[in-house]
Amino acid sequence: MNAIVVYESLWGNTAEVARAVAEGLGPGARALRVDEAGSADVVAADLIVAGAPVFGFKLSSQKMRDGIRTNPGKGPAPDLSCPLLCAWLEALTPASGWGAAFDTQVRGPFGKGAPEIARLLEGAGYAPLGETEGFVVKGRHGPLKDGEVERARAWGAGLARAVQERIGP
Ligand SMILES: Cc1cc2nc3c(=O)[nH]c(=O)nc-3n(C[C@H](O)[C@H](O)[C@H](O)COP(=O)(O)O)c2cc1C
Repeated sequence: MNAIVVYESLWGNTAEVARAVAEGLGPGARALRVDEAGSADVVAADLIVAGAPVFGFKLSSQKMRDGIRTNPGKGPAPDLSCPLLCAWLEALTPASGWGAAFDTQVRGPFGKGAPEIARLLEGAGYAPLGETEGFVVKGRHGPLKDGEVERARAWGAGLARAVQERIGP
């Protein structure tokens, strides 16, 4: 099974989850930052897993990115060179395959991004492979809560099993 885990990450939490999901998916899977995931990677993939942070109660957006750029606040510097996942998804060439979506977020009722990611994947022809998932950070900039990397690996392994049930090894 060929899979890519495409992620947007400014502070590294979503990147860490993406790497763990790729490990769980197995040897045919790679975690790629949005600007590393080209059309050849997309065409070759049976499964696209996509993940991004929740900012301002929603999937990371240009508006929030502009706000973070203008006012980065206190704490570690964001990597503003990372393109937006939503733009990558909106430009995805329609195809047929499986999709799965996750976000990273603080614990609590502060919004989700994964359902919007799943919607954009499905709109491009990538049928949802189960429920979306959220991975939790301890503070505004992370790090990930204890156990979340292991949970991401297990989620990836579950996705691999789900694909195998549907399309074979
Ligand atoms: C400016 C800013 C706004 C945020 N807004 C939310 C929010 O509305 N809801 C939420 O659950 N988490 C929010 N967070 C937490 C981020 O979703 C979390 O730190 C995420 O893991 C960052 O991902 P990254 O390290 O991959 O960039 C916010 C963080 C920042 C810095």
